[in-house]
Amino acid sequence: MNKKQLSELLNSLTLKQKIGQLFQSPGVAYNDDATATGVTYLPWLNSDTVENAGSTLNIFDNKKLRQIQKNHLKKNPVPLLFMADIINGYRLVFPSSIAQGCSFNPDLAQKAAKITAYEASKCGVSVTFSPMIDVARDARWGRISEGYGETALLNKDFGVANVKGYQGDDLSSDDTIAACVKHFAAYGATYDGRDYNEAQISQNTLKSVYLPPFEACIKAGARLIMPSFNTINGIPCTANKKLLKDTLRDKWKFDGVVISDYGAIKETADIGGAKDYAETAKMSLECGVDIDMVSESYYFNLEKLVENGEVDEKLIDQAVMRVLMLKNDLGILDDPYKYIKEEFDNFDFSSEQHEDFAKDFVCQSSVLLKNEGELPLNKKDDIAFIGPFSVINELMTNWSRVTPHRDKGISIEQALAQKFGKNKFSCIKGSKFAQPEIRSVKLEKFENASPSQEELIKQAVSKAKESKKVVLFLGEHKDLFGEATSRSDISLPKPQKELFDAVYEVNKNITVVLFAGRPLEIKDISQKSKALLYVWFPGTYGAEAIVDMLFGDAVPSGKLDMTLPQCIGQVPIFCEKPVPSHYSASIEGGIKHAYSCRWIDVTNYPLYPFGYGLSYTEFEYSDIKISADTMTRDEKITVSVDVTNKGGVDAYETVQMYIRDVVTPYLSTPLKTLKAYKKVFIKQGETAKVCFEINEEMLKYYNIDNEYISENGEFKVFVGANSAEDNFVKFTLK
Ligand code: BGC
Repeated sequence: MNKKQLSELLNSLTLKQKIGQLFQSPGVAYNDDATATGVTYLPWLNSDTVENAGSTLNIFDNKKLRQIQKNHLKKNPVPLLFMADIINGYRLVFPSSIAQGCSFNPDLAQKAAKITAYEASKCGVSVTFSPMIDVARDARWGRISEGYGETALLNKDFGVANVKGYQGDDLSSDDTIAACVKHFAAYGATYDGRDYNEAQISQNTLKSVYLPPFEACIKAGARLIMPSFNTINGIPCTANKKLLKDTLRDKWKFDGVVISDYGAIKETADIGGAKDYAETAKMSLECGVDIDMVSESYYFNLEKLVENGEVDEKLIDQAVMRVLMLKNDLGILDDPYKYIKEEFDNFDFSSEQHEDFAKDFVCQSSVLLKNEGELPLNKKDDIAFIGPFSVINELMTNWSRVTPHRDKGISIEQALAQKFGKNKFSCIKGSKFAQPEIRSVKLEKFENASPSQEELIKQAVSKAKESKKVVLFLGEHKDLFGEATSRSDISLPKPQKELFDAVYEVNKNITVVLFAGRPLEIKDISQKSKALLYVWFPGTYGAEAIVDMLFGDAVPSGKLDMTLPQCIGQVPIFCEKPVPSHYSASIEGGIKHAYSCRWIDVTNYPLYPFGYGLSYTEFEYSDIKISADTMTRDEKITVSVDVTNKGGVDAYETVQMYIRDVVTPYLSTPLKTLKAYKKVFIKQGETAKVCFEINEEMLKYYNIDNEYISENGEFKVFVGANSAEDNFVKFTLK
């Protein structure tokens, strides 16, 4: 439709129909099979709301979707838009976002999003609530696995890559879908690690850390954005004028669709920020929130507010026009069945190329934290494979439950059989996933009562005793992280600690493969094991890729996108922390002087720093050079380093560049901020020269007056294999 036709369509709608376009009804209102991702006790929901709704979420089944659309069009002149949480893959599931960030390779994320859009667009979905680009630094937070780690830069790069991957160059094409970036903003800055909790942050931190990924995604053309559930300094994001109107609409010129999070609009009243849901409706609409996801706030109040003259109908028209434009650009105004054509019902998605790519993505996302000569394994060795994660498939996060057509993949045990034949290696569970006290926070039962924990450990010990080496597959079950699943204890669940200790008693040649949704507290197992491979949640081809890595047919090349703490008391611990006062006394971890910023019972160092990760080869860094000692604002200078692959295999290395602005008047800024990285493939024996260009943008920061500027003076440029390395060169900005 052209602009004129869109305006005609808008003008032909009654006020009620227009308000309907601004309401998203839950999938369960149409179909019992829809996946619920929020409260489903909605007594206000009736046939009228459902008929008038403009969109719905998380229903999958082409036949049912066609029927729903058909019924809808009998009563509504505008087709229904189907949105969904397609997170990290539709049929083919890729590594979790926190794992993807460790690849330091956003091109892979873009390709994965493109494959996802291709698959989802044949299953009814034309909008995905992805990517999530919430910077997160508190490992207690349950949703930390959904973003790309602790830095603004990785969240920005991976966010943009996802937007480009989903949307392509042309939203109207058959294989693309619209991206909804979320959660705007500072959802990951939860005060104490609990989900939905307030964020208390300075304007400076908000602007320099939490907003840049969103701004970049908006610039890259993301069509939707979702304000977050949390409050920032007390103000709910769904009714935050500064954030949604002044910044998003006015400054960034966003003219796409703002959709609230599930039930979020009404919450402004629930927390005491408005007297009732009519007031929350007015507040959010005036802030530019177009769609009310599953709350009664807009649908039951906007009509009256217009009639009373409290809300200008023009605001409603603007919001409806944005929704209609989205539907138009996706092509469903012309063809309501575009994404649910009958020919898609038996669509063959299989593609060897996609599968190989998925496997490679796992290897590039897995982080080898320790290796005392244990890995790669030799298939001739006598190895015991033990642990609860060795015998299950679906090595993916809980979001995948939303998409019923996911390919669940195979278990480690099956992958071993696939690679070496059925009788070569076997796996045993060895312990329960978690103690019942933790499990009771989730209704889902994921373990049988028998065999008992004692029996499982007994079997594990006897197997470990008779083997030369042991590989333990441990971690946190997918029900122990995710939305509303924060933890105050981030160590391995008790039964698995018992398993580790019991095996360690009888066999010290332990390799641990860790599955996790967050940085875990693993000091003890890291010290006691000989090799440690952190695989997060790797997705459909996880098991095959892990077995390939264990036996050296693939090389892990991930580097941590999150700092791993020594203990929970250090959390939040992250690389880009502003320098504390008494820093010079605490510089060595608090040993030099009592009056220093430190803990008395643990050093200031993490267990593993941001950017850390080993390979099956060794890389040597030498000859760091800078092209000039001074730089002006319209110049660019270059830093280069030689990286030599000294080991026995060809492999990737991620070279990182951090910058320190030595003097920032009146303000403490981070000692090091990640500014650039390059992942290079270096053949054994060869040297790569890796160059980074430094431009003025990389030197800017928010000063005490909140101006985004660069400051004349000295800068240090650190180039190395991780954030803890201290090789630097200097230059002066003039
Ligand atoms: C989550 C969002 C999600 C939405 C729809 C909410 O509970 O916070 O991330 O997209 O539900 O399922």
